[in-house]
Amino acid sequence: MIQSLRGMNDILSNDHERFTYFIDIATAIAKRYGFHYVETPLLEETALFKRSVGESSDIVGKEMYQFTDKGGNDVCLRPEGTAGVVRAFIQQKLDKKGGIHRFYYHGAMFRYERPQKGRLREFHQFGVESFGVDSVYEDALMIMMVADILKALGIGYRLQLNSLGDQNCMPQYRESLISFIDGCGDNICEDCQRRKSTNPIRVLDCKNEKCRHLYATAPKLIDQLCDGCESDFNTLKRILDDHSIAYEIDTNLVRGLDYYSKTAFEFVSDNIGSQSAIAGGGRYDRLIEFLEGKPTPAVGFAIGIERLMELIVMPESIRSGYYLGAMENESLPLILKCAEKFRKTDTAVVEYEPKNLKNHLKGADRIHARYCAVIGENERNTNSIWIKDLLEQKETILSLDTL
Ligand code: HAM
Repeated sequence: MIQSLRGMNDILSNDHERFTYFIDIATAIAKRYGFHYVETPLLEETALFKRSVGESSDIVGKEMYQFTDKGGNDVCLRPEGTAGVVRAFIQQKLDKKGGIHRFYYHGAMFRYERPQKGRLREFHQFGVESFGVDSVYEDALMIMMVADILKALGIGYRLQLNSLGDQNCMPQYRESLISFIDGCGDNICEDCQRRKSTNPIRVLDCKNEKCRHLYATAPKLIDQLCDGCESDFNTLKRILDDHSIAYEIDTNLVRGLDYYSKTAFEFVSDNIGSQSAIAGGGRYDRLIEFLEGKPTPAVGFAIGIERLMELIVMPESIRSGYYLGAMENESLPLILKCAEKFRKTDTAVVEYEPKNLKNHLKGADRIHARYCAVIGENERNTNSIWIKDLLEQKETILSLDTL
């Protein structure tokens, strides 16, 4: 039997309800914050991700679903959503137009990772990207939005925060970090040896125990921020305090993508095992110009939907809509006509197989319908329909002429 590929799941039945429940809530909140839907292709030129997510990142270095298409193009399934939205933003010349543009999206992302609980090869994100605002208030808005979504879903979290500096303070910090790493000699892992020359700050989130121990005394960027970055970081903390959003400063939070500067954040849950990050984001003011757009400040986040689905407790489902059934074949045409009428304002699900009343009531219960509507010989002869309100437990017979 053909099975789905490893690390790629179907979303069915209960999962599907949970999935759409999440999308509905997140979409409503994103719209309330003034964001508009954007959809970009699943497949993009490989160069887009190399130049944005970064060649030194694990995502580009090890995890891309990359291939040559029939036209000889080097393409790749998107490992994340930001790069595609930025590409679309520049391609539509919104960077030249100026002003503020805010987008939200959701869809599948692909990373060839080692599958485990909470880590898939095809997974779904809900993300937002905001272009044109350099005020740190927008960074706070992003965090408040994730907090709002999680609150609406009844999900607890810890928020981790860091500042990655900008072109004024990062180069100097980089030098001091490289000297520190040099001082560690051969005691660091092979990955960190490589990171030292490609993107030294990535050593800070190395998972190797020995490296972590060594880096405990590494210089911290947060102590070397320039005045602008420091002032923004302080403002951000103040806004979060004002809104009673608790956070922890994590000076080792560097994120797995190379495009960030200044604010970086992650929401983690302690209830889903080792893959605990449920959302991540930050500011990426340089990315638009790296992709040949007009320099534009930008900030965004993405939520991992599968990880959240583990945590969502669905509200008790309330009965809704109509279940319609006939007790004999001759009544089916009338049932179809009634269903057509009900469907103008409500859900109407028809059972085609004639059954007795007891079995129709069971069927209505199974799909959690509010009303069970049945036509048998009596009703057909009197041009009427029998309806039971399964919530109020009340029965009525309605004439089909007055329906
Ligand atoms: P990211 O941190 O790589 O950020 O991914 C965001 C979220 O996607 C993670 O916090 C996690 O919940 C989920 N996720 C990532 N990889 C997997 C996986 N293999 N299986 C299941 N879930 C996963 C980004 O992708 C950025 N584009 C976020 C962003 C938007 N930054 C600015 N704008």
